[in-house]
Amino acid sequence: MIVTIANAKGGVAKTTSAMFLAAAYARRFESSVPVVLDADPQASASLWRDLVEDSGGCLGFDVAAANLSTLRRLDRVRAGSFVVVDAPPQGRLLETAIGVADFVVVPSSDSPLDLQQAWATLAAVPRERPAAVLLARVEPGTTAYARSVSALEGASTPRFDAVVRKRQDLKRCMGRCPSKLWEYGQVLDELLEVVRDGE
Ligand SMILES: Nc1ncnc2c1ncn2[C@@H]1O[C@H](COP(=O)(O)OP(=O)(O)OP(=O)(O)O)[C@@H](O)[C@H]1O
Ligand SMILES: [Mg+2]
Repeated sequence: MIVTIANAKGGVAKTTSAMFLAAAYARRFESSVPVVLDADPQASASLWRDLVEDSGGCLGFDVAAANLSTLRRLDRVRAGSFVVVDAPPQGRLLETAIGVADFVVVPSSDSPLDLQQAWATLAAVPRERPAAVLLARVEPGTTAYARSVSALEGASTPRFDAVVRKRQDLKRCMGRCPSKLWEYGQVLDELLEVVRDGE
């Protein structure tokens, strides 16, 4: 299964979501080692892996750099594997990462600007491809959150029921092993359910 994490907007928790979804899958299915494909030239996922290894830790999944050629060949390796693509914000790499995905996760904060970009990203996903907005780094109970949920519902935008709350622990998680999964375990459950239903 190939899951692409994409949003044309920067800083919306794409890399964090990619790493925690891979960690959640590794925890759930110990027989299979997931891989995060780092397709973002910023290389944040690769840096995260390097920092963990430098401190003697072990992520429990692989992180590998990906380019256009790597992504185009992905459909040859998909059987039985769980691949999460940390996509760049624009360009052919983003289009290709979306094109090869079985599911596209579009993380967004609850700011109107981020939501606009989330919709623009969803518009680039082929119609038959499952895709959903993941509200991340949000504070349920605030007006901004309620407005975002209502805007998504008003536009009939598919979204995960699980939302990832804003947390200091998640803010500081770069370069650390994801020990606690927070809401990402539920996000993985929802994602697997949709993909299985579609098979
Ligand atoms: N749930 C959360 N609560 C608090 N901080 C968070 C949360 N999720 C992510 N962050 C923080 O938000 C920042 C952006 O996250 P991240 O790097 O995952 O976003 P990104 O979309 O990959 O960014 P970029 O566009 O630069 O690649 C990071 O500092 C990260 O630690
Ligand atoms: Mg990133």
